Amino acid sequence: MDFFEAIKKRCSVREYSEKPVKKEDIEKIVGCARLAPTARGEQPWEFVVVTDKKELAEIADMTDHGKFLKGASAGIIVLCKDTKYYLEDGSAATENILLAAAALGIGSCWVAGDKKPYADKIREYLGAGPGYKLVSIVSLGYPKGGFIAHKKREVSQVLHLDKF
Ligand SMILES: Cc1cc2nc3c(=O)[nH]c(=O)nc-3n(C[C@H](O)[C@H](O)[C@H](O)COP(=O)(O)O)c2cc1C
Repeated sequence: MDFFEAIKKRCSVREYSEKPVKKEDIEKIVGCARLAPTARGEQPWEFVVVTDKKELAEIADMTDHGKFLKGASAGIIVLCKDTKYYLEDGSAATENILLAAAALGIGSCWVAGDKKPYADKIREYLGAGPGYKLVSIVSLGYPKGGFIAHKKREVSQVLHLDKF
C-alpha cells in the first residue's frame, strides 16, 4: 500500500474479527517499529508481543480504557529504558506500529501506558525491570467493522506559514 494511503487509512480500531494476525506480519510490524528515529540514536525500546488470550485479558483488565484488548488477536507492548527521551522515542515507534498495521490491512489502537497508574503493574507483569517504562500497548486485529476514520482538523486550520 502507498505510504499516503496507509496514513489516511489508519484509525483506531477497537473491535476485531476472529481472524488471527500472522506471526510474519507481527514481525514485519515490529521491524518497522524499530526503524523509528530516537534521540541520540539510543533505540531504548523493547517490544513484547502477547498473543495468549488469557494474558491479553489480564493486561486488558489492568487498564482503564483498554478493555477491548481482550478481543484483539495480539498486543504489542512498547517498553523503553528510562532515558531522557524515552517517551518521544517510544511514541515514534508506536506510531510506526500503527502505520505498518494499517498498511497490512490490520486494525490497531494505541492504549495509554506512560502516566497511567497501571504502568508499573503491567511492566512487572511482563517481567521487565524497574529501569523500564511502559510507553504504550497496541492492540492488533482484523477490524470487525472496517476502518472508520475520525474527522480531523483541516490543513487550512492547522498550517501556519512563517508565524503562528
Ligand atoms: C497517547 C495516546 C493514548 C491513547 N490511549 C488510548 C486508550 O487508553 N484507549 C483507547 O481506546 N484509545 C486510546 N488512544 C487512541 C485515541 O483515542 C485515538 O487516537 C483518538 O480518538 C483519535 O482517533 P483515531 O486514532 O481513529 O484517529 C490513545 C492515543 C494516544 C496518542
